[in-house]
Amino acid sequence: MKVAVLGGGPAGLYFAISMKLRNAGHAITVIERNKPDDTFGWGVVLSDETLTNLTANDPVSAEWIRENFAYWDDIAVVYKGSRTVSTGHGFCGIGRKQLLMLLQRRARELGVDLVFETEVADPASYMRANDLVVAADGLNSRVRAEFEQVFKPNIDLRKCKFVWLGTQQKFDDAFTFIFEKTEHGWVWAHAYQFDDDTATFIVECAQETWDKFGFAAMTRQESISVCEQVFARHLGGHPLLSNASHIRGSAWINFPRVLCERWSHQNLALMGDAAASAHFSIGSGTKLALESAVALADYLHAEPSLEAAFGKYEAARRTEVLKLQSAARNSLEWFEEVERYLHLDPVQFTYALLTRSQRISHENLRLRDAQWLGAAEAWFQRQAGATENVRRAPMFAPFRLRDLRLGNRVVVSPMAQYKAVDGCPTDWHFAHYAERAKGGAGLICIEMTCVSPQGRITLGCPGFYAPEHEKAWKRLVDFVHAETKAKICAQIGHSGPKGSTQVGWEESDAPLPSGNWPLIAASDVAWSPANQVPRPMTRADMEVVREQFVAAARMAERCGFDMLELHCAHGYLLSSFITPLTNRRCDEYGGSLENRMRYPLEIFHAVRAVWSAGKPISVRISANDWLANEGVTPEESVRIARLLQQAGVDICDVSAGQTSSRAKPVYGRMFQTPFSDRIRNETGMATMAVGNIYEPDHVNSILMAGRADLVCLARPHLADPYWTLHAAVQLADRGVHWPAPYLAGRDQLYRLAERSEAAAGRV
Ligand SMILES: Cc1cc2nc3c(=O)[nH]c(=O)nc-3n(C[C@H](O)[C@H](O)[C@H](O)COP(=O)(O)OP(=O)(O)OC[C@H]3O[C@@H](n4cnc5c(N)ncnc54)[C@H](O)[C@@H]3O)c2cc1C
Ligand SMILES: Cc1cc2nc3c(=O)[nH]c(=O)nc-3n(C[C@H](O)[C@H](O)[C@H](O)COP(=O)(O)O)c2cc1C
Repeated sequence: MKVAVLGGGPAGLYFAISMKLRNAGHAITVIERNKPDDTFGWGVVLSDETLTNLTANDPVSAEWIRENFAYWDDIAVVYKGSRTVSTGHGFCGIGRKQLLMLLQRRARELGVDLVFETEVADPASYMRANDLVVAADGLNSRVRAEFEQVFKPNIDLRKCKFVWLGTQQKFDDAFTFIFEKTEHGWVWAHAYQFDDDTATFIVECAQETWDKFGFAAMTRQESISVCEQVFARHLGGHPLLSNASHIRGSAWINFPRVLCERWSHQNLALMGDAAASAHFSIGSGTKLALESAVALADYLHAEPSLEAAFGKYEAARRTEVLKLQSAARNSLEWFEEVERYLHLDPVQFTYALLTRSQRISHENLRLRDAQWLGAAEAWFQRQAGATENVRRAPMFAPFRLRDLRLGNRVVVSPMAQYKAVDGCPTDWHFAHYAERAKGGAGLICIEMTCVSPQGRITLGCPGFYAPEHEKAWKRLVDFVHAETKAKICAQIGHSGPKGSTQVGWEESDAPLPSGNWPLIAASDVAWSPANQVPRPMTRADMEVVREQFVAAARMAERCGFDMLELHCAHGYLLSSFITPLTNRRCDEYGGSLENRMRYPLEIFHAVRAVWSAGKPISVRISANDWLANEGVTPEESVRIARLLQQAGVDICDVSAGQTSSRAKPVYGRMFQTPFSDRIRNETGMATMAVGNIYEPDHVNSILMAGRADLVCLARPHLADPYWTLHAAVQLADRGVHWPAPYLAGRDQLYRLAERSEAAAGRV
């Protein structure tokens, strides 16, 4: 086969090598615009796993790479005058120039024709003259641009500015992140050694900071001098070096995240950064390039036609790329928003940095560096007020809000049971909540309990509006207080435009077949074409409903509930005021956010006035309407939280969605936690995170990274009332309280867990 490879970076060279190894008869030419030893950039990072894959493909070049590696295990975070070091991370660095020289040597040895100092100007001419063309011409691929209509690239230019520099200052003991506060904002560096004398030193900052420094108007040397001053304390007198002399301008760029809809066209395939890029902060660009080269060479020799090989190549590599791009997006977004976290204690800041891509979990960090994680957990427990037994996971840290003291950070999220009769909780409620209270969670929140019969969602929803309701709830609260360590919270709400609907396991959100009652809401916006159009509330309605909330709060107080939560989420009455999707009012309750918040805040103040001063109140919000800028955005939710905080709300329960039947939520593990993170770290308000959080690892990493103060689990508690007790067994934590009659079961469970750990060779 006659093959032209356009671009002699890692992807192009390694593809040529891999092809020759599979069939020495191929005639392969690599065309590269630079000289053999003229390369931008400094060192690249590869993991042990990547090197193992390379060894399987070509032991010779893998061995050469290995011989030239700088290894290190530690990550150091230098910030606020402290240097926090954790170990067990296992990286290898190699100079990009060194890597290219080795690959060039190997390619030549195998008979590849390397043509340097030749600009590829007309890709189509190569396609005509060859059986196969591989475009590996990097991030700004000219070939990709030439066939833009076919490849349909999606290029997302990210927010931060960065420049790839080098230094002879030693960073040989750790991959080092340095954060420096300057008069124009924060500037940070990613530094790592890649040979005996040289380290990569990538400098990065927010666009705003970059603009304030005036870097745009500086020459490359002027930019470098400013960076040298910013990091003078860490450079030991060594200069910062640039080797990007072939690049015009200052060499600062915004990272372009590239993803193409197609990777092939006729006899041409895209490869490496030309096809898809991964942000440098997870160090995987070269890995992607090399592994894609191997994959395409494999398929070209296993499949009967180019078309079939391209099809397999694209299908297999796209999944890998998307996985890495997802981790890279988490990581780069973390750096883009890093100023949000710079108030954190260095321990928590380091933890957040280490787990930023979500590829490293809490327990994975323990495997890497048990000692560091143990110390970090002890820090967490101490700052939470624990005085003894501080070597426990964050989920078992105490929490205090006003006079409420929770034994741990797990919350049973409110979940409608639809088992009430005429608003009265039944034996079902008693058995259901009593079980969960025995199950170890620090706080149990009862389902939305309605302030009036018309305020119910369904006929099965419970209320706080009749004497028999009070009696039934009080029986439950008394049991929880007498027999368990859990605290219990009452969620109160009014269904508004989503009322008069069927129970959850019938047609959820659909009107009743008959006997519907009239609805009220902020405006006359129906939940869906099938639902009733609600009547916009008058001022008189507002006063009636406010007094119903007050009466419900008084009843919850008499029942002895420890905490109150106001349901202002999910499209119900108070939520219908907050979101512009359902609030079309032209009076002082509509329009600006301040106006839309006016009625929910009026209710809060009225309820706060009758609720014990020592007991906290939470407000649950939908922090994202999932309809882009049409509705509430995560950004606006920070302003919502600020208004709640100013009003005296103790904690924000950060849910999302269910405010419009047109919403397009993006689901995933812990998918709503970023909204809690943002609110907590931008306002300083305490938050609860909720939404697809189901493993102890999730809970611990959310808490330890400072993304929430409490973690709510809903569906996991439907499947397992004893979720917290079981999590404790899994983590070998013996500090949780089991009810006395269950102690024999507890002992057996710990014994069985120890045995299975021993059998798996983990202890
Ligand atoms: C600051 C920074 C740090 C990074 N750190 C890491 C890291 O630690 N680990 C890691 O794995 N990856 C890292 N990367 C990414 C890594 O450099 C790339 O992902 C990797 O080099 C991709 O290989 P490639 O062969 O596809 O593209 P490139 O390495 O960009 O190679 C493309 C080649 O094509 C040539 N070329 C382009 N256009 C033409 C033309 N028209 N005619 C002829 N030749 C042409 C170029 O000169 C170049 O040699 C980093 C990237 C940046 C920007
Ligand atoms: C059956 C069921 C009923 C729910 N009822 C309520 C409710 O009454 N009040 C409320 O605020 N959220 C309610 N939710 C939402 C949950 O509290 C939670 O926010 C959501 O299920 C996401 O958490 P999860 O992924 O842990 O299930 C309910 C969820 C389920 C599954």
